[in-house]
Amino acid sequence: MTDLGDMDPEAFRREAHRVADWIADYFAGIERYPVLSRVSPGDVRASLPPDAPADGEPFETILADFERTLLPGITHWNHPGFFAYFAISGSGPGVLAEFMSAALNVQAMLWRTSPAATELEEVALDWLRRLLDLPHAFDGVIYDTASVSTLHALAAAREQAVPDVSARGLAGRFDIPPLRVYCSEHAHSSVDKAVMLLGLGQESLHRIEADAEFRMRPDALAAAIDSDTRNGCQPIAVVATVGTTSTTSVDPVGAIAAICEREHLWLHVDAAYAGVAALVPEHRWILKDAGAADSLVVNPHKWLFTPFDLSAFFCRRMDVVRAAFSLTPDYLTTAEAGSARNLMDTGIQLGRRFRALKLWAVLRYFGTDGIRARLREHMRLAALFAGWVDASPQFERAAPVPFSVVCFRLSGTDEMNERLLARLNATGEVFLSHTRLGGRYTLRLAIGNLRTTERHIARAWTLLQQHAAELGATP
Ligand SMILES: Cc1ncc(COP(=O)(O)O)c(C=O)c1O
Repeated sequence: MTDLGDMDPEAFRREAHRVADWIADYFAGIERYPVLSRVSPGDVRASLPPDAPADGEPFETILADFERTLLPGITHWNHPGFFAYFAISGSGPGVLAEFMSAALNVQAMLWRTSPAATELEEVALDWLRRLLDLPHAFDGVIYDTASVSTLHALAAAREQAVPDVSARGLAGRFDIPPLRVYCSEHAHSSVDKAVMLLGLGQESLHRIEADAEFRMRPDALAAAIDSDTRNGCQPIAVVATVGTTSTTSVDPVGAIAAICEREHLWLHVDAAYAGVAALVPEHRWILKDAGAADSLVVNPHKWLFTPFDLSAFFCRRMDVVRAAFSLTPDYLTTAEAGSARNLMDTGIQLGRRFRALKLWAVLRYFGTDGIRARLREHMRLAALFAGWVDASPQFERAAPVPFSVVCFRLSGTDEMNERLLARLNATGEVFLSHTRLGGRYTLRLAIGNLRTTERHIARAWTLLQQHAAELGATP
């Protein structure tokens, strides 16, 4: 008869060693892969059978097929030449903790469904809060992404503005005016998605003009709030960004917080990428005024070496989040409710992964001084690269470099820059992405990977110059 149990422990031990060896070799030899996958749409799918196998297969075969059919379709985010979007690292200690978390298969929905998962989440987030120098009043919870953190922040803002919204919703209501949310023209698209999902409609989001350095203009914010109020709308929230997606600019949080306080608006700070830079004393100023906010998000899965996914949401009004999301059916009642925290009460998800384990492992393994040193080094490399751009007659810088991202372009047409980027990424040695600033196609070099060294950025710079010359760029 077929064995109806799981993989036996000895087979697991053997296969776990095989996978661990594979991962260690992968990390050690990562530069042999092209950073950006070269497959075409449909290639991976075409190499896989249409049906799952009826008979089980050895794990060794599965691993071999993974290498043969899936690996060519992987874009290597762990590659030191990965400079696109926000570069990240699934660090060794984070990967190991993720492995342990998968083995435990914990659902931390209630305290009792794994007390350690709930309490470690509180401890790891409190460590992070203290490192970011945020006030004690901020309570934390882990979600998967910053998009979901911002969704919860704006759900809380909606709850605060319309306390019966959970019961009555928004549709067809004539007792409440149109609600308005504000963010800068450079804020991330997750803010749009949140207002769409919360039933406010994308038109409720007022994108405020930025200054020449891509920061939200507080005077324009105040004017927009004033004008909307005079037109019968009800402003409910502002999202300030510390480290915008395109240029990593920092909105003037202090001035924005003062407006929010005056107008009684929820202030959410999106520090998804740059927030961790506040660990470094000379960058502490970036979150200096964020203590006045109602909520803040920072993503350890972006620049804190924690494997995707882990977003830390901090809120000084967790009671409002709870009012928006807490709902306990009979089958989820427990004796500890009230004395211990049930994480299902502070979010949309019921079942939740044991994510805190990897954050805890990363903070302990590298230590706070080790993390600071790595963040500093990334910012040093970005400044070095920016210096090369500034000194070059062919290239021009497109934005200030407050952290580890450099926005620049080849002096010339958009089309030339697009072609340059395509050629560069086709080398397989580096992967950069682009944005549009002031209407112009702009290249971005984002540093955030633990394996990236001066050699890698120097190589990116050499390739840029070579391909620019081949495209006929003249100084
Ligand atoms: C400033 C900012 N906020 C939010 C997000 C969304 O992050 P996530 O992928 O965690 O939802 C990003 C993504 O890059 C971002 O740059």
